[in-house]
Formats: sequence, C-alpha cells, structure tokens
Amino acid sequence: MARWLAPRLPGPQHWVLADRDAGLLAHVADALPPRARDGSPITAEVRELDVTTLTAADLAGVDLVTASALLDLLTAEEIDAVAAACVGAGVAALLTLSVTGQVRFEPAEPRDVPMAAAFDAHQQRTVDGRALLGPRAPTVAEEAFVRHGAHILSRASPWHLGLDDVDLVVAWLQGWVAAAVAQDPDLARHADAYLARRLEAAEQGRLRVTVGHLDLLALP
Ligand SMILES: C[S@@+](CC[C@H](N)C(=O)[O-])C[C@H]1O[C@@H](n2cnc3c(N)ncnc32)[C@H](O)[C@@H]1O
Repeated sequence: MARWLAPRLPGPQHWVLADRDAGLLAHVADALPPRARDGSPITAEVRELDVTTLTAADLAGVDLVTASALLDLLTAEEIDAVAAACVGAGVAALLTLSVTGQVRFEPAEPRDVPMAAAFDAHQQRTVDGRALLGPRAPTVAEEAFVRHGAHILSRASPWHLGLDDVDLVVAWLQGWVAAAVAQDPDLARHADAYLARRLEAAEQGRLRVTVGHLDLLALP
C-alpha cells in the first residue's frame, strides 16, 4: 500500500509497515517511493505486530490505517476490534483487495465449479480455533465499521487477468487449486489434469480470469 498510495498523496508522510510475519517484513521496506506527490519526503519504519490487537490509543496521531488482502484472513471478532480501534481513534481506514469469492473463467469448464466451492470453503476454515471469514470478510467489515459509527464507501476492484498477466495467472491458479484440494481431497484425482489444462490455456493466451475483490474506505 505504501508503494502504491504514498506517491499519490501530498505532504510529508511517515509509514508504519506492520505485519505479523517477520520474514516478509525483512523485504517490505525495499523500493519504497522516496517522494510524495508534491515532492515531500516519505519515511517508514517496520513493526512486527498483530494488527487485530491495536487499540484506539495505539492509533493516536495516525491519519490513515490501510491494508491490502488482509480481511479474509481475519475472524469477525478480529475485524470488529480493528473497526473499533480505527473509529475510536477517529482514523480513516482504506482496506483494499478483499476477495469476494467471485471467480469467472473464460472459457468456463464444469470442473471450475467444485474447485471454486472448495477454495471458498478453504478460505472459511477454522484455524487454531479461529473461524476465518474468507469471502464473507468485506460484508462483515462493512457492518462492523458502520456499527462503530463509520461511513463506508465500497468499490469493486476485480482482477482482470489475461495474456498480459501470465505469471500472475500461473501463480494464482497453482495456489487456488492447491487450496481447493487441501480442503476437499476428493478433488485430487482430477486436479493435476485440470491444472495442466488451465495452465496451458493461460500460457497460450486462451484463458481470462476475473477474480472478484472489493475495496472499502471507512471514514469515522
Ligand atoms: C495475502 S497477504 C497480503 C500481503 C500484502 N498486503 C499484499 O497485498 O500483497 C496477507 C498478509 O497479512 C498478514 N497478516 C495476516 N493476519 C495478520 C495480523 N493479524 N496482523 C498482522 N498481519 C497479518 C500476513 O502475514 C500476510 O503478510
């Protein structure tokens, strides 16, 4: 988000780049844009933390909380805590690229349907007692922020993947099918052939994939 958003905003900025994964944080500050839209300096620090433990007091002095591809990994209680902290501190939140569960292949084939259903179920599995929200996350987040008194703007932000994005399609397909099979092992006997067909079509530019995502802007 810092790479994308910081150069679009004016004025001096200090970003706190937070994740609970120390391995990812080791790379996160690479290639940050040096200047804001008006040439003001951008600085950043890295913090290993669980963002669902943040309180309104932790966010004192913060102008914006932003994250991408995060909400589906959280539970309803965790999203409620994030909403409470942001709204309680009077901080806007820009929460982008939350999956909606809508996946469209062109051309479609029958096997897409059970794969998609298993992937969605995998996203909503329970991990260590935590019931992940998966594609329900955008709706749950919207309701939580509104309950805490925020105004919400939401916009569809689907990925439209085709020949220009073959590397991404390949990586996405491999992860998508692997998660589906992990959730429903009965799919395994068809999965290799299905993936091979889909990868071949992607590499030959015969496959387009639309992956539904939603962006939310919550204004206190
Ligand atoms: C799907 S990745 C998205 C990474 C990056 N934001 C992007 O859009 O490419 C989700 C990230 O959220 C982090 N994450 C998940 N739950 C978290 C939590 N409770 N606190 C902090 N980071 C969390 C994961 O470690 C991972 O880096």
